[in-house]
Formats: sequence, structure tokens, C-alpha cells
Amino acid sequence: MKKESKKWLLVANWKMNPVHLKEANQLFTSTKKTANALRNVETVVCPPFIFLSNLKSTGHRCVVGAQDAFFEPEGSFTGSISYLQLKNLSIKYVILGHSERRAMGETSEMVGQKVKSVLKGMMTPIICVGESVRDEKGSYLEFIKIQIQEALSGLSKNSAKDIVIAYEPLWAIGKTATRQATEKEIFEMTIFIKKVISDLYGMKSVPPTKILYGGSVDEKNTESILKEGMVDGLLIGRASLDSKKFAQMLKKADSIKR
Ligand code: PGA
Repeated sequence: MKKESKKWLLVANWKMNPVHLKEANQLFTSTKKTANALRNVETVVCPPFIFLSNLKSTGHRCVVGAQDAFFEPEGSFTGSISYLQLKNLSIKYVILGHSERRAMGETSEMVGQKVKSVLKGMMTPIICVGESVRDEKGSYLEFIKIQIQEALSGLSKNSAKDIVIAYEPLWAIGKTATRQATEKEIFEMTIFIKKVISDLYGMKSVPPTKILYGGSVDEKNTESILKEGMVDGLLIGRASLDSKKFAQMLKKADSIKR
């Protein structure tokens, strides 16, 4: 196994923040300083598109990612940013199918098309899946399964190692979160996602796909989720905008050997 695959993957999703370039530069500089000193963590910072060409990573411990990518390489698609444009900026990771984008009308079919184009551009898609409610009967499991199947539709078994799945239950995301997911719930969902992928491709061993958890992760629960959730890393919204909190999270992850 390559050394790289043993690192935790911590992805900062800045969403539509901050408002000024100056703040983006400050936040990135401070995050990069912490991240570049850590051996056991790969940090990915996903700022709004507008800051992408300003934020330069140095080395491979802290890289820049995007929050979306359109599936056509170029053309008449007002307001969109293509996977090829991102590739040409040396972007390594692209978040796709975030629930906030799905809420704006992005369909699973579009997510699937975006996954294919991001892979074509030699970047790693971070595919977000997650249910809006949990019911007693467990039908949310079927919902997650379908989201994964649709996102991976038409991909070969070989692609399983080139993608990342982020489990983000909608009820645990953002300011309106009703509660955090428990470590046990995260653990069970990680196993379930791995099973869905292995069934999809008829794999006999555990799929190489990295699984992240996202939804109200902060400096207080980073350690327990990484230790008990069976995940390969975290997708972090609000806490990644606070350089002190995020630095604490990165250092905590670094102190846990995989
Ligand atoms: P949160 O957001 O950490 O602010 O809950 C996570 C996400 O939406 O990616």
C-alpha cells in the first residue's frame, strides 16, 4: 500500500465564504501553515471559485479543491465553471452533489455526469450523499444506496479507488442541524457505503474508496469520529472558517495514527 493512502483526508468546504479576498488569503495562509507541518493529514481547502486562482498551495500536504464542476469542457453555459478549467488550474479535488447544490435543483443524473468529467480531468471527485430524515424502517439506507448507484453509474470497477464518498446527513449539516450524527451511526453508514460499492462491482474484498463524514464536525468531535467512525477523513463546513478551530482539528487528526 502506498504511504499516501494512510493519511487522513480533511476537506474544508468554505461554501460562499468569505466575502473578501483579503480574508480568504489570511485564512488560507494560516491553514496552510498548520497543514504543511503535518505528516499524517492531507488537507484540501475548497474556497469559492472566485478565489481559486489566488490561493496557491505549496507542496502536497495542503491542496486546493473546488466546490463543483460543470460536465461540459467549454461552451455556452452562463455562470458555470467547467471541469477542464479546474484541471487547468491544477485543482486536485472537486466536491460534487453537495446537498446545498442538490437543493438548488442538481439532479443525481447531473452528479453522475459531473463525476465522470472530473475523473476525465484526472481530479478526484468527493461525492456527497446523505438523507434528509431517518425513519424507523431504515428506508434512508435505500435512499443512500440509490444516490451512490446513480453517482457511479457507468463507471468501471477500477474507478472505485479514484473517488471519495462523503456521507453528510442533511439533519446534521450547518446552523439548522438538529443534532450531530453519533460515532456509531457514522460507523454503520461507512460499512453500508462500502457494501453498496462492493456489491455494485462484485468485489470480493473491501473497496478502496475513501469515505468521509461531514455535518457539524468541530474541534470537539474530530477525534472520536476519526477513531470510532471507521472513516478516512472529514468534510468540514463552519469550523473550517475559523482558523484556530480548524488548526486544532488538523492537529488532532495528525496525532491519531492510522
Ligand atoms: P458544517 O457543514 O460542518 O457546517 O455542518 C458541512 C458541509 O455542509 O459540508
